[in-house]
Amino acid sequence: MIKGIICFYSGSGNTKTACQYIAKKVTNIQFDFFDITVNKTPVFKAYDIIGFATFADFGGPPYLMQQFIEKFDDMENKYAFVFNTFGFIGGKTLKVLGKWVKKRGFKIIAGHSLHTPENYPPMIAKGMANLKAPNKKEMKCFNDFITKLDKLAILVQEKKNIKEKRINVSLFNMLIPTHSRKQASKDMGNKFVDESLCNECKICEEVCPYDAIVCDPIPVFDENKCYGCWACYHHCPKKAIYTKKFNGVGNYPKPSKEFMEKFDINK
Ligand SMILES: Cc1cc2nc3c(=O)[nH]c(=O)nc-3n(C[C@H](O)[C@H](O)[C@H](O)COP(=O)(O)O)c2cc1C
Ligand code: SF4
Ligand code: SF4
Repeated sequence: MIKGIICFYSGSGNTKTACQYIAKKVTNIQFDFFDITVNKTPVFKAYDIIGFATFADFGGPPYLMQQFIEKFDDMENKYAFVFNTFGFIGGKTLKVLGKWVKKRGFKIIAGHSLHTPENYPPMIAKGMANLKAPNKKEMKCFNDFITKLDKLAILVQEKKNIKEKRINVSLFNMLIPTHSRKQASKDMGNKFVDESLCNECKICEEVCPYDAIVCDPIPVFDENKCYGCWACYHHCPKKAIYTKKFNGVGNYPKPSKEFMEKFDINK
């Protein structure tokens, strides 16, 4: 058995759940997890393979993942795999993630994108929650990817030479434009707080991955630091945070029941 670590960014738990499923299904890799929103710098020395997992964020990987990956020095061909979830169309997410990882000197040997329920409030509000995702075919492809990863682990253990995997996405996905990292925040617009609902719990401050919120005692938003990830909106237990267009609709604070049942990670 080899040792692996999955560095993940998961705003509402879909990606985290999928990573836990990967770890549950493989038999040749013992995985640890590294949540990049909580911890800053992992030590990779003890691991044979590193996974990078995130969600599609306007057609590409989120800025937080870029900041995380850019910190590493040359990884001297350490084995890696890339993985992303998406709610509607993942665009170039996997390809760009692969590019960033390769640039740090990792040798990518596997990659996969998984269709999951949507967590972008404006899409959910339009009735596009995709709660049935992944469908049977998508689930089979995901399981095939895990089987392949498991087989590659044997080759890693036997110190066999493994061919680098070129990470590509379909032509259709290539045509999806990637937003500039600040455009997401502009699209979301300014955030407001319904003071009659806010209980001053500070959860919004804790979940903001870009340190854009200070509770004093109700949240004050630094719109210049905000990347429009909607985490504060999703996770406020009182639904006290709202924007000009969205108030109390499309909240997805954790993976849907249907999604959790499919992955059954507690068994
Ligand atoms: C700000 C934001 C942007 C998103 N952009 C995309 C996108 O471009 N394409 C897509 O298919 N899904 C998009 N989604 C949906 C998520 O990628 C998808 O629901 C994912 O499974 C969420 O994973 P998580 O629960 O690990 O955060 C976006 C979600 C958010 C919050
Ligand atoms: S999470 Fe919601 S209730 Fe808690 S401090 Fe923030 S706005 Fe107020
Ligand atoms: S303020 Fe809210 S939307 Fe902006 S980055 Fe923080 S959690 Fe995300």
